[in-house]
Formats: sequence, structure tokens, C-alpha cells
Amino acid sequence: MSVIAIILSYLTGAVSFSYVIGKRYKNLDIREHGSGNAGATNTLRVMGVAPAITVLLLDCGKGIASVWIGYLLSGGDPLIAAFCGLAAILGHNWPVYYGFRGGKGVATTIGVLATLVFTAALISGIVAILAIIFTRFVSLGSLLFVAGTTLTTSVFFQHFGYPVYFIYFLLVITGLSFWKHRTNIQRLIKGTESKLGEKSPAN
Ligand code: G3P
Repeated sequence: MSVIAIILSYLTGAVSFSYVIGKRYKNLDIREHGSGNAGATNTLRVMGVAPAITVLLLDCGKGIASVWIGYLLSGGDPLIAAFCGLAAILGHNWPVYYGFRGGKGVATTIGVLATLVFTAALISGIVAILAIIFTRFVSLGSLLFVAGTTLTTSVFFQHFGYPVYFIYFLLVITGLSFWKHRTNIQRLIKGTESKLGEKSPAN
């Protein structure tokens, strides 16, 4: 049952809502426009506010759903829930349905972390939102959210009652996120990263 839950989570995560909405409503492949990223930020650039919010919520929702698939099919085992969350992020980043060309997994990661480690994600989410408001760099906020949630979980896991192995999952998720954002990080360092809603070079 656990293996089925993990596969199901990967297949759920692999449904790319920016791709689906781009194709269905604008007849475009989001991966050929803007930064080329199949995600909410690039949907905002290419398609506007309403599609971007829809993508954000749906991509986030599949992260939440995947962790719950893990809990429900394993009888409440947090280890399987964590594997399912990771599988959903892998599905979003490397989706079997679209030639393994997906996004950076930020919205899906938000859903996964908010379900697995709610308090840590909430604290880091507030920091990330403030960072985005003040700098208008979504990529910076995304990285702060993922790294911040991992740091907060690592420091306070006993206090919050999280299993210690969540830390290892979060380290892997952080590593994936930084890898996927490597071109954003280079641009942030050079001072050429695009701000919220601005045009972006292809990643
Ligand atoms: O959602 C991913 C975000 O952190 C950066 O996306 O399109 O600016 O590379 P983008």
C-alpha cells in the first residue's frame, strides 16, 4: 500500500497546472514562454494574475493531497507521508506526462511542508512573504521559505513534536529547490534577477 501511495503521489504531483491552464485557455506551452518555468510565477508573467493564483492554489493543493494520500493509505505513518510529499515534488519537477520537463516545485513544496510541518512552514512563510514584498524577488522568497522551514524544523523538531527523520526529507527538498533555482541564484548574485511580474530571461 505504501508503494502505491508514493507512486500515486508522484503521478498527482506530475499534473502541471500551469501547463494545463496554458494549453487549455491560451493554447501555449508555458515552458516556451517567459522564464520557461512551469510554475505560478511564470504564469503571472505570461498569462496574468487570475491564472497565476489558480496555478498557485492547484499546485499547492496537489502537495497537500499527496501528503494526505500518504497518511491515509499508510494508516497515519508520517514516514510514508513524507515520502509521498517528496514524490509529489519530484513529480512536479520531472513530470512523466510532459517529457520530464516541469517546474521548480515551489507551490507544491509549500503544500507539502504546510501539511507535514505546519508551524515551521508558517514562520518561514511569513519571512518569505515579507522578503517578496520588500525585494519583489519571488525566487529569493521561495528559497528563504524552503531553507527557513528546514532550519526551523531542525532546531525545533522536538519542541514541535516532528519526527527527527523529517529533517533529512527537508534537507533533500531544500537541495532540490536550490538546484532547480540555480540560474535564479546566479542572477540574484549578479543583480540581474527579474522582479515580480517582470519579464525574465529563459532559465
Ligand atoms: O516559482 C518559482 C520561482 O521561485 C521562480 O520562478 O519563473 O522566476 O524562474 P521564475
